[in-house]
Order: sequence, then structure tokens, then C-alpha cells
Amino acid sequence: MRIEPKIGGMGATIYDIDLSQPLTEERYRAIEQALGRYGVISFPKQALTAKQLRDYAENFGTLEINVANMFHDPEYPEVMILSNIKEDGKPIGLSDAGQDWHTDMSYSKTIAFSNILYGIKIPMRDGEPLGNTEFCNMHAAYEGLPETLQLELEGMTITHDFNKFWEMMRREKGSTRPPLTEEQRKRKPPVSHPVFLTHPITGRKVLYANPGYSMRINELSEARSNEVLEFLFQHQLQEKYQYRHRWAQGDVLMWDNMGTIHNAVADYGPDEHRLIKRCQVMADKYFPDLY
Ligand code: SIN
Repeated sequence: MRIEPKIGGMGATIYDIDLSQPLTEERYRAIEQALGRYGVISFPKQALTAKQLRDYAENFGTLEINVANMFHDPEYPEVMILSNIKEDGKPIGLSDAGQDWHTDMSYSKTIAFSNILYGIKIPMRDGEPLGNTEFCNMHAAYEGLPETLQLELEGMTITHDFNKFWEMMRREKGSTRPPLTEEQRKRKPPVSHPVFLTHPITGRKVLYANPGYSMRINELSEARSNEVLEFLFQHQLQEKYQYRHRWAQGDVLMWDNMGTIHNAVADYGPDEHRLIKRCQVMADKYFPDLY
């Protein structure tokens, strides 16, 4: 296996490895280390069945099964389908997943470790891939904060709410999803997590805030919380912290949800087909009893 880091400290491509075959424990742990270090890693030219994707992903932790979601592989519910393709007039996958800056599952008591996506159909226009996935580096964002703010926010917590992203999609992105029912909101109550997490792989601090779900810094007045969150959102999205994965068919893309935030760029039309299979690995192995 050959790891080729991208320029700028974030992102790496890993060659000479076939993810459809079982790997040694040593190899899985080396991949995990690379993920912590580079935040986003990609494996080009892979060919995986849903089962092989599931089998690979479960080496990194418990896989989330999205019970409310109908868009998963019929045999392997841990494998979700992200797609704008319709068959017989019906969508075959979730068409608007992650289309703004966020961190997966920060609204959940057990947070997410990694997303593992396998690109089956990638839309292209004029020879360029569409539907790329953008990332920001939260190790660098923490390190780039003014020291006074690092000190002020140390030990504080943020409330994250699933409904924030949901409502933003309805309000700003023309999503036809209905508002969450009382029942659904009860099943996903807001949760709190530290503003700064010590990353379990790198041992360094990361800024664990994101515009998608972060609502309130609990230990501050509402006015100061709004002011600081506004600052943190602008700070973490600076160009200097960004990296963009340009998809190619056959890519397996893995990212670290603690050390990065991400955005799925929706720059393709309904006839420009995109088909991705995704597994979500939870961070329960790293934080079994933290919360
Ligand atoms: C996601 O947020 O998991 C979706 C990312 C993508 O489709 O590029």
C-alpha cells in the first residue's frame, strides 16, 4: 500500500490495495492512522459489491443503520444509497444528502467516526467531475483560533440539533422534505458535545463545531454564543483549511468526521446521474463511555 499525501496537509490517495479482499489487522490500523493524519483518504479504481463495502467498513467500528431511511441496499441495510437516479419514476436513493457544511451525526449522543463512500456513477460535464465533496480541516481550524478564544471555550460544550440542518434544507435548498413530526423530533433530541475534542487518533485537539447542526454554546449567554458561533463558522470555512475531492468512478472515499467538516456540492442536474454507496462508521470504539 502506497500513501501519497496531497499538497497542503489534508487529503491523501492510497494506491496498491484492493478493498474487496480482507486485509490484515495491521493494514486496517495503518489506514486508520492515515485517516486521522490526513482527514480524507481515497482509494482509486476499486470494484466492490455492497457486501464487500460493508465488510470493509465494519473493521473501523459499529455501522449505523438508518432505520427511518428507505434508501439502503435491500440485503445490507448498513449500506445507504445516495443518488439522483429515478427508476419507474421513483428515486433509487437519497438525492440531497449532505448538501451544506456539516459533520455527520454531531446531533447524536454517539458521534460518527468515518463515512466510507464508493462512487459507482459520477456525473461529468466537459470532462470535469461534478458533485465533488469538499472538506475543511478541524485540526488546523483549532490551531488557527486566537489563543484567547481557545482559552475562553476550553471545557465548554455545544448543543447540536438534527432539526437545524433539516429546516435549512427546506428553507434554503428547495427541499420537499416535510417538517419533522413531534415524534421524529423526540427520537432525535438535541445533544451536547465538547467544543474541542481531543482526537483519538492524533491526540491533538480539533474544533468540534459545524454550521449544519451546532446551535448554542451552553455555558455562554445567548448573545455571546451567537457571536462566537458566527465567528467559528466563518473561521472554520476559510479557504486555507479546505480540500476538495474530485470524484472518479471506482473511488472509495473515507473521511474522518471528528477531524473534518464536509459539504456535498450539488452542481449537477437531474439528468447528470450520480450513484454512491455509503457506510457510516460510529465512533463508539473511541468514546465507549465518554458521554
Ligand atoms: C454525505 O454528506 O455523506 C454525502 C457526501 C456526498 O455525497 O458527497
